[in-house]
Amino acid sequence: MKTGLLETFDPPADEWDANPWPFVAANTAEWYEGPLGILFVSSNRRWEEFRALKHLRAAAIEETSLGAITSGPAWEWSQQVTSWSDGPRHAELRGLFAPAFSASAVNRLRPRLVDICVEAIEQLPSGPIDLAELANNIAYRAFGVVAGITNSAHIDMSVIDTATDLANLWGWHSGRMVDVINRAAVDLRAVVDLLLREQEGLDTLYGRIAAADAEWDVRVAAGMQTLVAGWETTVASILGICHTLLDDPSRLRNVVEAAWSPAAVVEECLRWKPPAAAMMRIASESFQWEELSIEAGHMLVAYTFFIARDCDAYDDPWVFNPARRQIDLPVWGFGAHRCMGVALATAELESLVEAIRVTNPAWALVEQPRWTDPKRAYRPIELIVENG
Ligand code: HEM
Repeated sequence: MKTGLLETFDPPADEWDANPWPFVAANTAEWYEGPLGILFVSSNRRWEEFRALKHLRAAAIEETSLGAITSGPAWEWSQQVTSWSDGPRHAELRGLFAPAFSASAVNRLRPRLVDICVEAIEQLPSGPIDLAELANNIAYRAFGVVAGITNSAHIDMSVIDTATDLANLWGWHSGRMVDVINRAAVDLRAVVDLLLREQEGLDTLYGRIAAADAEWDVRVAAGMQTLVAGWETTVASILGICHTLLDDPSRLRNVVEAAWSPAAVVEECLRWKPPAAAMMRIASESFQWEELSIEAGHMLVAYTFFIARDCDAYDDPWVFNPARRQIDLPVWGFGAHRCMGVALATAELESLVEAIRVTNPAWALVEQPRWTDPKRAYRPIELIVENG
C-alpha cells in the first residue's frame, strides 16, 4: 500500500541528463516494494517539519530488508548498534561511545591526515588512473590513523570490501543480499574483535571504544559500526569532491589559489553531490500531515539531494558556489541519530582539499563517470583521470 507523495520535484531538464540519480530516487514510490507507505520530503521547509515530527523511530532492519532479515549474524549485530535502536537503548549506546568521537581528539590528528592525503596524491603514477583507488587508499589510511590500527597485522584493504558488503544492510535491496550481508557480519566481527583487543588502554578511537563500559560484544558491534558507517560514505565523499573539482577546472584553480577555504569547499561539495541519499524513519504513531494520513508503521523518506536543491532555501541551488551561506546540511541526518562521525569525516575531507591545494595535481577528467544508484552511497563507480 502506498500513501502517495507529500512533495514532487521538478528539476531543469538538462540536470535530468547530468544527474540521473535524483530522478531514480524520485521514483522511490515505484521501486520500493514494501507494504509500507512512503512519504517523500524534498524541501527545506518540509525537512524542518520532518525533523520536528514527534512520532518517528529508526527504520528497523526487518523493515528495510522487507522482512528478509529477522535472524542471523547481521540481525544480531543490528540489535547492538545505535543506527537500528530507539529510545532508552539508543541513548545508552550513544552515550557509551560518543566520547570516542570528540572533535578535539580528531582535530589533534589533522596534520597527520593532511600528510596522508599529500603522500597518497604524490605517489600516484602518471598516465590514466582511477581516483577510486586514491579514495580507498586515503579512507583506509586515515581511518587507520584515527582508530589507531595503521600498523596492525589484523587489517588490510580487504576490510573495505567486507565493510562495504555489510553496508548493504542500509539499502532496500538488502533482503536480496542476505547471504553476502551475513557473511560480512561474521568476517568483520572477527577482525574488529582482534583490533579492539590490540587497542585496549590506548588513546585512539578504537582504544576508547574498547574502554567503554559495556559488554564486549556491544563494544565489538560499535567498532564494526564505525567501519561500516564511516568507510563507504567517506570514500564516496572523496570521489564526489574530486569529481566536482575536476568537472570544471576553474574550481580546481580556486582551490589551489586558496580562493575558497577547504571547509567551504567540503560543505558545498556535500550539498552538491550528497553521498548519503536518504534519511528514513518509521511513523511510530498514526498522524495527519496536511492532506496525507500517515499510519503507524509507514516509511518516511527525506532525500538529501532534493533538499539541497531547494530554490526557496538557496540562491541558485544549481550553481556550485562554496562562498554561499550554507544552511544545516541534511547529509548528516538529524536528531538522536545524527551522524556520530561528523568531526572525523569533516577532518578527513578538509584534509583532502588542503592536500589538493598543496600538491596542485595535474589531473584531467578523461570521461564522465557512471554513478552508483541510490541503493548505495552516491559516488562515481570509477573516476578515471589523466595524471599529467
Ligand atoms: C562523509 C562521510 C559521512 C556521511 C555523509 C555520513 C552520514 C551519516 C548519516 C546520514 C547517518 C544517519 C543519520 C540519520 O539517520 O539521521 C549517519 C549515522 C552514523 N554515522 Fe555517519 N557519515 C559519514 C561518516 C561517518 C564516519 C567517518 C563515522 C565513524 C567512524 C560515522 C559514524 C556514524 C554512526 C556511528 C552513525 C549512527 C548514529 C546513530 O544512529 O546514533 N559516520 N552517518
